[in-house]
Amino acid sequence: MKKFIDDSIVIEGPQISKGTVRIGGAKNSALPIIAASLINIGKVKLTNIPWVSDIDLLLQIVSELGVGVFRENNIVHLSVGDSLESFINPDHVRRMRASILLVGALLPRVGKVNIAKPGGCSIGVRPIDQHLKVFASFGAEIEEKNDFIKVEARKLQPTNFSFNVKTVTGTENALMLASSVKGKSLLLNCAQEPEIVDLASFLKKMGVKIKGAGSPVIEVEGSALLSNDITHSVIPDRIEAGTYVIVAAATGGEVTVLDCIPEHLRSLIYTLRKVGVEIETTANTIFIRGKERYNSQLNCVKTSPYPGFPTDLQAQFCALATKLDKPTTVVETIFENRFQHLKEMKKMGANFLIEGSKAVIYPSLLLGAKVAASDLRASASLVISALIAHGTTTITNLHHLRRGYEKLEEKLASLGVEVHSESLIK
Ligand code: EPZ
Repeated sequence: MKKFIDDSIVIEGPQISKGTVRIGGAKNSALPIIAASLINIGKVKLTNIPWVSDIDLLLQIVSELGVGVFRENNIVHLSVGDSLESFINPDHVRRMRASILLVGALLPRVGKVNIAKPGGCSIGVRPIDQHLKVFASFGAEIEEKNDFIKVEARKLQPTNFSFNVKTVTGTENALMLASSVKGKSLLLNCAQEPEIVDLASFLKKMGVKIKGAGSPVIEVEGSALLSNDITHSVIPDRIEAGTYVIVAAATGGEVTVLDCIPEHLRSLIYTLRKVGVEIETTANTIFIRGKERYNSQLNCVKTSPYPGFPTDLQAQFCALATKLDKPTTVVETIFENRFQHLKEMKKMGANFLIEGSKAVIYPSLLLGAKVAASDLRASASLVISALIAHGTTTITNLHHLRRGYEKLEEKLASLGVEVHSESLIK
């Protein structure tokens, strides 16, 4: 029986993008919201959910925990009863770091969670020390054994907690725990990403009182038993939107990005305007007029927590940087190993220098080559590089891209961009 191994795409470059593309729901908002559904007994209807493999995996995990799951297109119906399993398949956890969100969601319901350590990934060590500190702060006992963590909470209590670092899923875990214990909790030095605001608006529909989501200081008044039927539409994916904005800028195209929230991309828009990209916005669209050649006024891009330049758009920006008329320095401050896309782009002729967390990208003539994706956003940067390059590029290991980009080929086709998919079957 032949087995699907992986898929790859072949792109003839250079290509110019032109047209409109619709943005889907945010993967990094849907994941915590699906997890948070576990703390509420009732029916949950989620709309604008993207069809990406990370979501498929999390829905499989919550289904194994006893949640009723029904999907139709971009809508998910969840039915959460009063008893849930507490065993999470370790193979699933090791495939997706965001599984750590299940602890904050399950603990209040089942009292004890035994979870495999999510482990690092290609972009960095990805420690979970802040998550463990959050669990302990709410009264949980933690035991680390081999590569499992047992978190037990006979009685959770409200707490005041200050993060040592801005952590998105760490803040989301704290929000879920604070929501499900009776009383007032205060969370300090929280991450401010829009996905956290979206999670908070979902939790408020559950009956939780939350003030300050999106700011570093969040006050939560939780309650022990949350039981409501909820409908929620997930916010647009700002990273998907930003990726297509960069596609337009890099290919010199005229593109309208629809169903997005430009407010969530102010740092990217500011940066691209300094490069010389013409960008106009309305409340939910971004119009980009790219150029064949740029007279860039930008010297350096530095990633930082929201509202700074998103680390999840750093790789895609590096692809654009090869087309600029001057060297551009890219500083990655969030993850310690997030320049792997450059090693692959080197096969296409990219000229750069990496010194620790800093990469200087020089003007480069990219030529088609065979390259391999290493992580979700690196795969997007290779697609953009292939659209700039002269010749044929084959990108393998595309399962990375399928984790976070829904209908890539169709969406690129709506911009007049042709890519050919190949499935590797052995
Ligand atoms: C979220 O990951 C996103 N994933 C990532 O998107 C994103 O890159 C990242 O936030 C930063 O914006 C989801 O939301 C599912 P962090 P997360 O905890 O929460 C350090 C993508 O491409 N840290 O905000 O895991 C950590 O090492 C993915 O969609 C600790 O030191 O990231 C990093 O330097 C990739 N201890 C920094 O904080 C901890 O306990 C930010 O990490 C936790 C984090």
